[in-house]
Amino acid sequence: MKTLVIVTHPNIEASNWNQAWAKAAREQGDITVHELHKAYPDQNIDVAAEQRLIEAHDRIIFQYPLFWYSTPPLLKKWFDEVLLYGWAYGPEGTKTTGKEIGVAISTYGTEESYQAGGSNGPLDEILRPIQALARFISAKYLPHFALNDTSNVTPERLAKSSADYVQYLKTVQPVGAAQ
Ligand SMILES: Cc1cc2nc3c(=O)[nH]c(=O)nc-3n(C[C@H](O)[C@H](O)[C@H](O)COP(=O)(O)O)c2cc1C
Repeated sequence: MKTLVIVTHPNIEASNWNQAWAKAAREQGDITVHELHKAYPDQNIDVAAEQRLIEAHDRIIFQYPLFWYSTPPLLKKWFDEVLLYGWAYGPEGTKTTGKEIGVAISTYGTEESYQAGGSNGPLDEILRPIQALARFISAKYLPHFALNDTSNVTPERLAKSSADYVQYLKTVQPVGAAQ
């Protein structure tokens, strides 16, 4: 199982969580970490290179901070430009078939606010477009990884969350898969 983490954070140097997660994933050695803003500072995505990267991996995790209940714009641009007809979908678009797709997300809002009945509502609902995207391109959707309450930064929390993330990257199973 070859895992690719696609990190989208417009200011990773100022990031606590996404920076720590990317570092922890990279330190594993067998996980590819690809930072879109570093690869494309001009936001000019090399579509062929991105498609080759996806083809070379089995499990793809989109890692990003939640921005207005959605992805940072460069990741939306990536979806629009990379997941093409004839490659990801359509009669001959089979390159993403059977891949695993997951989301790792950080949110300023608290865990309670992202529960049913909370002020933001469940993250599963907010992530529905990614789940639908995965289904559309015949990929298997993975349960998401989340860290809430991002302003509560402590070395202990950062270390635990990074360790939990590595565990997630290595062991997560598709929704509905037998354990
Ligand atoms: C433009 C923008 C929009 C944001 N929208 C949300 C949001 O909808 N919900 C939320 O909980 N946090 C939101 N945040 C907070 C970020 O998710 C938070 O700062 C980030 O997850 C922190 O992670 P980092 O330490 O890796 O930067 C937003 C932040 C920015 C800059």
